Amino acid sequence: MSGDREQLKTELLEQIDKDNIPAHIGIIMDGNGRWAKARGKTRIHGHQEGARRVKTVVRFANDLGVRHISLYAFSVENWARPSFEVSALMRLIRAYIIRERNDLHAEGVQFRLLGRMEELAPEIIRQANISTELMKNNPGLSLNLCINYGGRAEIVDAIKRIITEGYKPGEISEQLVSQHLYWPELPDVDLMVRTSGEMRTSNFHLWRGAYAELYFTPVLWPDFDNAELLKAILAYQNRERRFGKTSEQL
Ligand code: FPP
Repeated sequence: MSGDREQLKTELLEQIDKDNIPAHIGIIMDGNGRWAKARGKTRIHGHQEGARRVKTVVRFANDLGVRHISLYAFSVENWARPSFEVSALMRLIRAYIIRERNDLHAEGVQFRLLGRMEELAPEIIRQANISTELMKNNPGLSLNLCINYGGRAEIVDAIKRIITEGYKPGEISEQLVSQHLYWPELPDVDLMVRTSGEMRTSNFHLWRGAYAELYFTPVLWPDFDNAELLKAILAYQNRERRFGKTSEQL
């Protein structure tokens, strides 16, 4: 981080309410391609820079006391990208899981993969399972890497499991659906961030994000540094979360 950015980070940190840190932050990491194009580099280079950014943001979020961070690294729709880009992303994700395992563990982080596992390469699942198992008793933030993830797919998969388990229509409730999502112990998303100026949630955390505060920034993902994370948290802290009630009822 440059001196100016460090200074900004220090100033922003002073404004943060440490008692109101969003417990679960979801991030749609967008803009790697545009970041690379602006520098005359390949899209793959943009994704590599994006992967580097993951490391700093996860560590800082853990330091701030964020309990969960869900990162949208590969959606169910991303298979439609050119095959060389899909392969490069899968290689990057696999390399990230292996390379960062010990550091994340040392930092007390937990690790979970969210998505349709059956369509992923067995080696990615195997590596993810090693990390999950190693870190499962850690006290820190849970890093939820969303790969081959889709919010609709998650709900469909939950419904399939509910039917398989033989529930009757009268027994089906929101709580029951929540209990059949991927990793049911994960709480709702409090703050959903999307980088690169796009203002969509693109099938990310449809169920758990029902009441998420949305934060859109024009910053491209490889430029999203710790000061940018603090800006997103500050914006969240300045919102009034009413969950359907009036201001007077809060
Ligand atoms: C969107 O940018 C980004 C993705 C589809 C992939 C996100 C992947 C990473 C950040 C790197 C891998 C992650 C890990 C955890 C190692 P885009 O390609 O759509 O950008 P563009 O809209 O500018 O083209």
